[in-house]
Amino acid sequence: MRQAFKYFGTVAGFVMGLAAVSSPASAQQSLTLICSVQEEWCRPMAEQFEKETGIKVLMTRKSTGETYAQLKAEASNPKVDIWWGGTGDTHLQAAEDGLTEAYESPMLPQMHDWSAKIWKQSNGRTIGIYSGALGFGYNTKMLAQKNTPEPRCWADLINPKFRDEVQVADPNSSGTAYTLIATMVQMMGEDKAFDYMKALHKNINQYTKSGAAPSKATSLGETTIGIGFLHDYVATAVEGAPVKIVAPCEGTGYEIGSMSIVKGAKNLDAAKKWYDWALTPKAQSLAAPAKSYQIQSNKATPVPAQAPKMEEMKLIDFDFAKYGSSAERKRLLARWDAEVRNAAK
Ligand code: G6P
Repeated sequence: MRQAFKYFGTVAGFVMGLAAVSSPASAQQSLTLICSVQEEWCRPMAEQFEKETGIKVLMTRKSTGETYAQLKAEASNPKVDIWWGGTGDTHLQAAEDGLTEAYESPMLPQMHDWSAKIWKQSNGRTIGIYSGALGFGYNTKMLAQKNTPEPRCWADLINPKFRDEVQVADPNSSGTAYTLIATMVQMMGEDKAFDYMKALHKNINQYTKSGAAPSKATSLGETTIGIGFLHDYVATAVEGAPVKIVAPCEGTGYEIGSMSIVKGAKNLDAAKKWYDWALTPKAQSLAAPAKSYQIQSNKATPVPAQAPKMEEMKLIDFDFAKYGSSAERKRLLARWDAEVRNAAK
């Protein structure tokens, strides 16, 4: 996996009913999509797909864990056709739970190995669409006011000087935050990882619903440090926010953002059209202008200059099969709820 990176660099949502301009035949078609990336990237994707195909996209932005919960609740009467984006662990869990449909896209040969690997692991039920490394970002102005040294390592985040100065999402709703748990467990061993997260809890000012919310709070100075995917922090820095990104000195984990077709999708043809289209370099190139700097899964999609350099980081050999398994994810989340979330400060 590490090798592969050497070669490339609520329903808060909204429902988009974009005007369908197309042939009468396709004007009838629609697609219900859950988008688990940043809304800024969801919108141009839906708009462009509608423009090219005439298929009406009904879209909701939802975090990864929340989407899994919705698909499970709707299993007997699926309302969603396709789930695009969000961390692969929950897509793998949905695959194992039979909530998603196998599909072999003609685009498969164009994918990076890490994308095809998750497709094979899930028996064709999910495919990698992007990847990004976990880390943290801090607000340089806030840090300067506090007169504390620059945090460089995971270990620095449990310094009592950062009491109530760190923000991260809730792993039950957020795939980003679940990636943090899985990363720590793989790096430290489970008991030490939970000791670390209990120590970190003392410094946490808020567990947010979505994984990227702490990056926005960091850029606004509402928190000094935010934990999440580095590309979300880069997005704030390119807009001029005083935010510095840190790939932690001990090493770190990463995500393989994924896409799955929902089992029993009412608009299966449209879902397959989206799936194939979303894997093209043209569609994937809509990410960078939307300030989404993940590494895209099609080998021919250019890597934006702003993308965090994963090949220069100490990345762990992330075990997606284990940490994306239904039993393991449930067990780790239950342990986090019991021992971390409500621990005394
Ligand atoms: C952001 C990141 C994505 C990530 C997603 C997970 O949108 O840019 O790379 O997959 O968060 O969302 P969640 O809210 O589930 O942590």
